[in-house]
Amino acid sequence: MTVKINENYLLLKSNYIFAEINQRVEKYSKENPEAHVIRMGIGDVTRPLPQAVESEFIKAVQEMGQPETFHGYGPEQGYDFLINQIIEKDYKPRGIELERSEVFVSDGAKCDTGNIQEIFSLDNIVAVTDPVYPVYVDSNVMAGRTGPMGDNGRYQKLVYLPCTEENSFVPELPQEKVDLIYLCFPNNPTGTTLTTAQLKEWVDYAQDNNSIILFDAAYESYITEDDIPHSIYELEGAREVAVEFRSFSKNAGFTGTRCAFTIVPEELEGYDAQGKAFKLNSLWNRRQTTKFNGVSYPVQVAAQAVYSSEGQREIKENVDYYMNNATIILKSLKDVGLRVYGGVNSPYIWIKTPKNMDSWQFFDLLLNKSHLVGTPGVGFGPSGEGYFRLTAFNTLENTREAMKRITSLQEEI
Ligand code: MLT
Repeated sequence: MTVKINENYLLLKSNYIFAEINQRVEKYSKENPEAHVIRMGIGDVTRPLPQAVESEFIKAVQEMGQPETFHGYGPEQGYDFLINQIIEKDYKPRGIELERSEVFVSDGAKCDTGNIQEIFSLDNIVAVTDPVYPVYVDSNVMAGRTGPMGDNGRYQKLVYLPCTEENSFVPELPQEKVDLIYLCFPNNPTGTTLTTAQLKEWVDYAQDNNSIILFDAAYESYITEDDIPHSIYELEGAREVAVEFRSFSKNAGFTGTRCAFTIVPEELEGYDAQGKAFKLNSLWNRRQTTKFNGVSYPVQVAAQAVYSSEGQREIKENVDYYMNNATIILKSLKDVGLRVYGGVNSPYIWIKTPKNMDSWQFFDLLLNKSHLVGTPGVGFGPSGEGYFRLTAFNTLENTREAMKRITSLQEEI
């Protein structure tokens, strides 16, 4: 016996939440083959790629088949044709100026939010909202930054910022100094948001405490209300304290195609043990050029097509389609007397479980009685206990059918 494992992995909960749900649903479906199970658990889209994206994607694949237009390795950071569109169309209209060197195209916000912790020391104190997208926590557990999980379901060295009905899902600033802060708004899983003034408090906190905010904005295209920032860089001072993660998954249907990007401003700095400053941009660039060979050429061409006028029209239609589902879900659940949140600036609806059921009891009730799959809130952290998440990403037909089934459960909820 010579090969030793990374024992930090033993500190993880046995299964990634969505893998656990899949196992349970597969078992149920095998035992109940006649049941038409509707999945509103994992946040995966159902609408196909926009036509404008599909046609450019095909053309780019054909280019790859011809000697004159073939592409081998591309720049690890992404092709300029896509980076320029990101800067011009996503950021400039909001008054944000970015350099090309600050944009890193990647294969997903999940990968980037999971990998970013590598460029930071293991000594940093990490804060996460609770509930939280599990990737932020698990990637820090794997790295050895968290210590073991206590009986309260919390990793001992992480700082948890509870987001519950009591604080309207707005995290309070930490009492102690923290170094790294993961924020995701519009939030996964609660579907709630921060106003400009509320997010400004975090930017100010980070400025005052020399902290770095890791801001996940994967759901920004679902914002419908005014006064909700689409990018953290809309706030003054954020360039000095925040990394931002964006994705084509949820707005343009790239969950299976894979393309995203991360902004690391040149101003961002971290320090070595002697207190010497280093640019986070250079560290991330070093990390990416070593461990990543870039997103494939056809996929980046496909992502560029998202920014064409046709692409923009189509992705808006898709987002509107899902938000119509969200409206139907919110109304139906309110009509049966459930307390529900999110769903206005987000494709996620966060439900307070009825009758003091815990999250998994409610999961079992919906699966067994309604053949409906959602995500137990406790899977996102201890403060998610007693909550449950549904997504608006299914088809309109399935969403309507699912709500009919929940309505007929009225007696039990
Ligand atoms: C979720 O359901 O929370 C999503 O699948 C998250 C993700 O995009 O990985």
